Amino acid sequence: MQPKPNIVHLPVYQPGKPVDDVKRELGLSEVIKLASNENPFGSSPKAKEAIAREVDNISIYPDGAAVDLTAALAAIHGVNPDQIIFGAGSDEIILMIARAFLVPGDETIMAESTFPQYKHNAQIENAVIIEVPLKNGTHDLFSMLERVSDKTKVIWVCNPNNPTGTIVTADEIEWFLSKVPQNVLVVLDEAYCEYIENSSFPNGIKLLQKYPNVVTLRTFSKIYGLASLRIGYGVGRPDVIRSINQVREPFNTSRFGQAAALAALQDEEFISFCRHANKEGLAYFNSSFEKLGLEAFPAYGNFIMVDVKRPAQEVFDALLRKGIIVRGGHKLYPTHIRITVGSREQNEKVVAALTAVLQEIAVKV
Ligand SMILES: Cc1ncc(COP(=O)(O)O)c(C=O)c1O
Repeated sequence: MQPKPNIVHLPVYQPGKPVDDVKRELGLSEVIKLASNENPFGSSPKAKEAIAREVDNISIYPDGAAVDLTAALAAIHGVNPDQIIFGAGSDEIILMIARAFLVPGDETIMAESTFPQYKHNAQIENAVIIEVPLKNGTHDLFSMLERVSDKTKVIWVCNPNNPTGTIVTADEIEWFLSKVPQNVLVVLDEAYCEYIENSSFPNGIKLLQKYPNVVTLRTFSKIYGLASLRIGYGVGRPDVIRSINQVREPFNTSRFGQAAALAALQDEEFISFCRHANKEGLAYFNSSFEKLGLEAFPAYGNFIMVDVKRPAQEVFDALLRKGIIVRGGHKLYPTHIRITVGSREQNEKVVAALTAVLQEIAVKV
């Protein structure tokens, strides 16, 4: 048997170590995982109640068109229902966009050091990947534009960017969109947008009115705290959404996901609590890093990437031994770690552990 030649070199996704494994292996009673940008406050109680109500229906297929959730989001965003598509997380929408739009040899442009699923799915379709290095941890839209050719089919802009946490502003993205040919699809991945109150941050869904070649991705995995239920959505022009829908599996989102997402949307109190706590957490990390003499990229989502000025792996391992799991291992940022903003207590523990680790390493040197 011969798999597709363009997938044989692809790595199999390596999930982070489960908290219980780390506890057992290192003999720790408490482990804090701030590695996957999950919501430290869980999810809305309304979402949990909605899931409980769905339990009796688990033998029945979900609504493949997610009609109720579509209607709710269409009203919130001021778009028509035929402009929205759901995926098993926004991960699946990225997959479907690659599947629907990229054929072997098409060019697709993305930042170098961005969310890895853009490249992964484009590789599966045998597209030509063009990675444009970040500038100061931020998308370099000028250089990305320079790489557009008549073979370009899809451009990916992760805003805020994972892993660096930086944003491109409304003015910058509008400049970019005004120059990109209208036949090139621009995917704006706004997985963390609900955390942001900054008025210079663009809303991709609003940009659609002026730039119909934009598809905006959102997710219920982050501020809504529903990561395990795998539900995210895309908003775009009806014909673009139809093309993505043509490659969608019939029942790609679950009953639990749809019901919880609908309820979560209605709990503004929970969302604003999470947004506020996250803002405080980012301010706390920024001031703590400054005291430690460390520089971080400007962070807008629920995570922050900081230069620990030592090999990230060393700091990662030392933090792990203290029961703190963060994310390191970014090829272009070998001395940076990415930390998800946790609860106040978790953030204080991370800073205390990082302070101790940096001192221990300094003593050894
Ligand atoms: C930028 C970005 N896009 C998309 C996703 C995928 O999220 P999900 O598939 O859970 O919706 C993530 C998850 O970390 C992300 O950081």
